Amino acid sequence: MIPPVANPDPTDPILRVGGLTVSFATDRDPVTAIRDVSFDVNPGEILSIVGESGSGKTVSLLSILGLTDPRTTTTSGSVIFKGKRILELPDREMRRIRGREIALISQDPMTALTPVYTIGMQIAEQIRAHQSISRRGARKRAVELLGEVGLPNPSEMVDRFPHQLSGGMRQRAVIAMALSCNPALLVADEPTTALDVTVQAQVLDLLRRLRKDFGSSIILITHDMGVVGEMADRVLVMYAGRVVESGTAEQIFDDPWHPYTWGLLASIPPLRGPRPERLASISGTPPTPANLPPGCAFAPRCRFRFEPCSNPPPRYKDDGHTALCFIPPEDRPRLRATVLGGERSAA
Ligand SMILES: Nc1ncnc2c1ncn2[C@@H]1O[C@H](COP(=O)(O)OP(=O)(O)O)[C@@H](O)[C@H]1O
Ligand SMILES: [Mg+2]
Repeated sequence: MIPPVANPDPTDPILRVGGLTVSFATDRDPVTAIRDVSFDVNPGEILSIVGESGSGKTVSLLSILGLTDPRTTTTSGSVIFKGKRILELPDREMRRIRGREIALISQDPMTALTPVYTIGMQIAEQIRAHQSISRRGARKRAVELLGEVGLPNPSEMVDRFPHQLSGGMRQRAVIAMALSCNPALLVADEPTTALDVTVQAQVLDLLRRLRKDFGSSIILITHDMGVVGEMADRVLVMYAGRVVESGTAEQIFDDPWHPYTWGLLASIPPLRGPRPERLASISGTPPTPANLPPGCAFAPRCRFRFEPCSNPPPRYKDDGHTALCFIPPEDRPRLRATVLGGERSAA
């Protein structure tokens, strides 16, 4: 028996993640890729998880959904979805929740689609796996969903194979599939990274509409602060497997506390013109879980490091805003201005 948690209230967070820590077995010692990650997702909220490649975004998400390989992965901490501790659920029940209540959109739409079946068959199959509905009914619903995600000529698209669609169309088909069960929570892992800028904007619009029309909560993973700025209500900034800063979008954009966040903000790509390949304002690359420096993991790349940074940093907290950094609050505005200019409010 899974111990019940307090009765769910409609205004309670739909998802509560507490102290999530994930380690992988390797040829040598086990490595800890995620350390003490905690956050809530409220009903109808868009939470963005942002960080460079390798910061632990995907591993966090897969562990929350129970999709890591139990033979090589050790997970601790609690994940409470709608009042239920889901990490302890039997596989069968977890699969039901994943299909019906939590939908996943991954970075590469091809991984979600089977090449040998038509788009329509795959969406209909998904619908029928969770709902008793006739084959014809499911197909009709698939056509409707393809229309809802803005695919042109849905009644024709439904009979196409994945390779007959463009990247943007495939991603829409995957989103249609994810929507087929009206999920309470949609988890999108870099859903627009493979798409060009115009299609990216359309897919982001679609996600926003989904929240508006169905009240779905969304976890949107991205490495692009520009996307965060357009979409997020709340933001988690991850670095080397930890949440280094978290807060409302307003707190993160108007009064960012962590030097890593400053770097991410300084590297928001220009609206026009080519996107820079690397983060202009943060030199070096992130550590791997096997090579974490002692103390603050960001210190080796941080222009503002000082002696204390060789120790584990404290977590400053104020009004739901948190940061894992030694820089005292009164010094932040002055240091930040050297990266971002002084126009931000220091509120
Ligand atoms: N199965 C695994 N075994 C060992 N290390 C892994 C495994 N999966 C991911 N990692 C490591 O965990 C870290 C975080 O990866 P990931 O969550 O995929 O980053 P992100 O999604 O932020 O780009 C990376 O350093 C990655 O190499
Ligand atoms: Mg990833």
